[in-house]
Amino acid sequence: MEFKKRILCIGAGYVGGPTMAVIALKCPEYRIDVVDINQDRINAWNSDDLPIFEPGLFEIVKERRGKNLFFSTDTEENITKADIIFVSVNTPTKTFGEGAGMASDLQYWEATAHQIVKHAQSDKIIVEKSTLPVRTAEAMERILKMHSGNIKFEVVSNPEFLAEGTAISDLLEADRVLIGAHDTEEGNRASQEIADIYRHWLPEEKIITTNLWSSELSKLIANAFLAQRISSINSISALCEKTDADISEIAHAIGSDSRIGSKFLQTSVGFGGSCFKKDILNLVYISKSYGLYEVADYWESVVTMNEYQKSRFVRKIIKEMFNTVAGKKITLFGFAFKANTGDTRESPAIDITKSLLDENVRVTIHDPEAIENAKIDLKGIEKNITYETDPYRAAANSNAIIITTEWEQFKDLDYSKIYDSMEKPAFIFDGRNILDHRKLFSIGFNVYPIGKQQLTHFS
Ligand code: UDX
Ligand code: ADP
Repeated sequence: MEFKKRILCIGAGYVGGPTMAVIALKCPEYRIDVVDINQDRINAWNSDDLPIFEPGLFEIVKERRGKNLFFSTDTEENITKADIIFVSVNTPTKTFGEGAGMASDLQYWEATAHQIVKHAQSDKIIVEKSTLPVRTAEAMERILKMHSGNIKFEVVSNPEFLAEGTAISDLLEADRVLIGAHDTEEGNRASQEIADIYRHWLPEEKIITTNLWSSELSKLIANAFLAQRISSINSISALCEKTDADISEIAHAIGSDSRIGSKFLQTSVGFGGSCFKKDILNLVYISKSYGLYEVADYWESVVTMNEYQKSRFVRKIIKEMFNTVAGKKITLFGFAFKANTGDTRESPAIDITKSLLDENVRVTIHDPEAIENAKIDLKGIEKNITYETDPYRAAANSNAIIITTEWEQFKDLDYSKIYDSMEKPAFIFDGRNILDHRKLFSIGFNVYPIGKQQLTHFS
């Protein structure tokens, strides 16, 4: 079949994979190639066992794979043939040199830019899809233009707002699509060409076009604002635990104000995920690099509050268990950074586990999807860790259970049975406030929610 256009996506990860699957579904007249340097990952995309778990993704991949959606490691040939190249390689936080711990490590991006220049034989639109520091497009352009000869590259920013676990619905029913381009004739043309892709399934008013820098910055700011809401509610959860106020009642009361809105006000043991911390630290780094120290401090406090929430939680566990946790068994229900994903990047469960291990606790980890990733995260320090796929076996003989991820199935477990199998006194620390605390208390548990009064049998 003759395709109307060829789209290439470099990087078959959490962003590239689902995004291209949905584009392939909605634009059957386009050929979509997704490439990666990781052969195992590509093999998985070509199998029945996809490398990432996203509700609805497998059905779409199965329908389009081999028709207009192809996964391979053949980057060079696909660069030559593509009209539009999405770049969604990873951009981890730098672990070395200038900006370590804050700035993005752009080595994969730069390598991709060089690869594109080397193999391109015709004009192309390059779409920045990974989350990147502002003005990356400029650096990309510099590399592209330096060596391009007669070939023209137009760099466009099209940030992704999908959240893990809901990636497919976030793509299909997007609140908005953002496309940033230079305000030139070529820039506007490229912007419209990218908009044409999304027009296949989204109404015009959902497609926002901006200049390049606004688009890049908007992605960071969207995540910073979302994380800020969580840190704000978490900060108040600490105050609630000292007073008679209840964080759920407060969240409901303030969220009913339509100016504030009810979403992202769920208190927790802290936010995780690959984006929030990374993007905020990026924003902090950029602000500092322009000498805007107050701006940098303001945003950095969102991350500081998140770290505080995690350490506060662990301190509370230790204190409430009579300051003697050494040798005790504590079971984590959940290791993923949120429900409905196996992803554990920046999961609060990692820090909690490490802090408990420092106290010589025997830690058991149960999670429906994330055990394999947990094993990778905790490699080298697994001496006192047990992994358990069955929640009842995980809880048996424990002194305490900690809810670290808000999996639905944790709500429906038989907690009487669990209580009977545990050491006494039995503790539950609900780091997500998902359980029925009164019921647990009546079973016999000592219950410690977040931002609410604890229910204990101690006088
Ligand atoms: C986020 C953004 O939502 C998404 O738009 C962006 O593209 C990538 O980053 P994601 O990291 O997948 O998506 O997850 P999200 O649902 O935003 O949750 C992030 C973290 O915040 C999780 O650890 C979650 O448990 C926590 N969270 C979320 C809370 O603690 N309370 C809330 O009310 C909401
Ligand atoms: P994200 O969450 O941003 O999608 P991931 O780490 O899930 O990040 O995916 C990024 C993917 O990009 C990885 O599978 C990685 O192997 C791939 N990658 C990195 N550099 C290149 C490159 N030069 N060519 C092709 N793929 C690359």
